[in-house]
Amino acid sequence: MTPDDTRPEVTGGGRVVTIRCRFDGPLVVEVSESPAGSHSHIQILVIDHLGNPFALPTKKLLALCRCGQTKTRPFCDGSHKICGFEAADLAAG
Ligand code: FES
Repeated sequence: MTPDDTRPEVTGGGRVVTIRCRFDGPLVVEVSESPAGSHSHIQILVIDHLGNPFALPTKKLLALCRCGQTKTRPFCDGSHKICGFEAADLAAG
């Protein structure tokens, strides 16, 4: 198991948006499934500093660059793998 495979248990009942710091990689946005019998809808927007939305990648995974080397800002394009980006940030809790 890698650090990316772990996920804290969330209680409550609604859908959860998790922003995961990938080891030496991007910030990955994940949305949990709807609870059984629920039809909650979540829309994710990534907007620029003027409030305009970016077109989201068509891939299922939404990954935001944090290495600064992507050519598709603000989204990860995999450049972190070749630029030697290192980030192993851990939450204090
Ligand atoms: S984190 Fe992937 S390209 Fe920057």
